[in-house]
Amino acid sequence: MADPKKYILPSLKEAQKRTQRQVVIERALFELPEETRNLGQGKKYYLRTYGCQANERDSETISGILEAMGFLRVDVPENADLILFNTCAVRKNAEDKVLGEIGHLKGIKKKNPDVVFGLCGCMAQEESIVHELMRAYRHVELIFGTHNIHHLPALLHNVMVKKQKSIEVFSKEGDIIENLPAKRNMKHKAWVNIMYGCDKFCTYCIVPYTRGKERSRTMDDILKEVIELKESGVKEVTLLGQNVNAYGKDLKDGSSFAELLRQVALTGIERIRFMTSHPWDFTDEMIDVIASYDNIMKYIHLPVQSGSTDVLKIMGRRYTREQYKELFDKITARIPECAFSADIIVGFPNETEEQFMETMEMVDYCKYDNVYSFIYSPREGTPAAKMEDNVPLEVKQQRLYALQDKINGYCNMNNQKWVGKTVKVLVDGTSRKNDQVYSGYTEHNKLVNFTGENVQPGEIIDVKITEHRSWTLRGEKVN
Ligand code: 5AD
Ligand code: SF4
Repeated sequence: MADPKKYILPSLKEAQKRTQRQVVIERALFELPEETRNLGQGKKYYLRTYGCQANERDSETISGILEAMGFLRVDVPENADLILFNTCAVRKNAEDKVLGEIGHLKGIKKKNPDVVFGLCGCMAQEESIVHELMRAYRHVELIFGTHNIHHLPALLHNVMVKKQKSIEVFSKEGDIIENLPAKRNMKHKAWVNIMYGCDKFCTYCIVPYTRGKERSRTMDDILKEVIELKESGVKEVTLLGQNVNAYGKDLKDGSSFAELLRQVALTGIERIRFMTSHPWDFTDEMIDVIASYDNIMKYIHLPVQSGSTDVLKIMGRRYTREQYKELFDKITARIPECAFSADIIVGFPNETEEQFMETMEMVDYCKYDNVYSFIYSPREGTPAAKMEDNVPLEVKQQRLYALQDKINGYCNMNNQKWVGKTVKVLVDGTSRKNDQVYSGYTEHNKLVNFTGENVQPGEIIDVKITEHRSWTLRGEKVN
């Protein structure tokens, strides 16, 4: 077991490196170290997840490990013996929220000194954040990085039994650890990692430093997981990667995302989604496979980030506005009913009004079903953070509001088109607000609230759409 007094702190310099080092695939069955097996007996944990689906999936692994140790999950931090935050570092406001919450909950430690506060995920990979936590948030006694999840039992043992602060954050490019336990959040939908990390190094983005280099799981491992999920009753899988188009390139055995998608479709699982696709390197073969199989959902998240070729160039996105539109046209020509969503950053350093208007024009062109839009947030260690920026925050805010207004208009317009139609909905359960109303998602990823008799979660049923709201649809089950 690691020397508890020795912290392993993150290093930005190490995280920025990319080497030729071979990725190790660890396939040994996961075993809890002897002394940690009963550590969670009679204890409760509270886990809060911030950020993207990769974090959601990591939290399922963390829950799996904790529950193997005997911990029980609770919904309220005040009732827990272990309070853990799985965090996101993509924008500063997400980080501020986490730090605020950790500060806010500090009183729990005063009342119960045995409670363990932990922080993991992308913020743990940041050198400056970990130093800040050590300086000003001393009640946080457990910090581990995205490459250290499988060491959680030993780290917890250090804190809970040896009463030592545990900090272990590897800043390496990363390996692949198969066979970790997972407590899946949903019975009929599952996230499936197909690759980890990112090598695109968009100039604004911290992810290549927090999650290491692009490394793909083998097709056999992924297909085995999908088949097991299908056999256990899962209806929908979402294949996850920061940039799924790059799937397989590092394996150098001819694997590609198009081929993986085809193989997953052939398993016969009812619904397949995938995210995120980079517009660069979105192949014709991928489009062909998406078009050819009914169980691949016709919904593509295709982040554009900006509509200006000049801004895209400084962002390091590897495509022009024309190339993005060409790709969009090619997909819609082959799959006319395809729905699209995107991510957009406004107020990138020195973005001019004209460049912003080009982004607005891009939204008019693509008429997205949904867009996640953000104000640019400088991230330490990224090239963009060193750029001077002449755009005042108020201007960025006005641009964000103008953009969101436009986005809402198209979302509303797209939703309106479904009224009167009958769609297939995978039932999640009852609606959060009303237990007489069910909710679920259509093939095109629209959230539908609907009424009906004999509705079971996990079923795929026909629903007639009767009304639309800005973000959701309403309907009735068709008998
Ligand atoms: N500032 C604002 N938004 C960002 N994103 C990534 N990095 C930043 C940043 N520094 C956005 C991108 C990405 C999404 C996950 O988060 O739009 O696609
Ligand atoms: Fe970040 Fe770009 Fe990689 Fe997406 S593709 S995770 S935006 S570096």
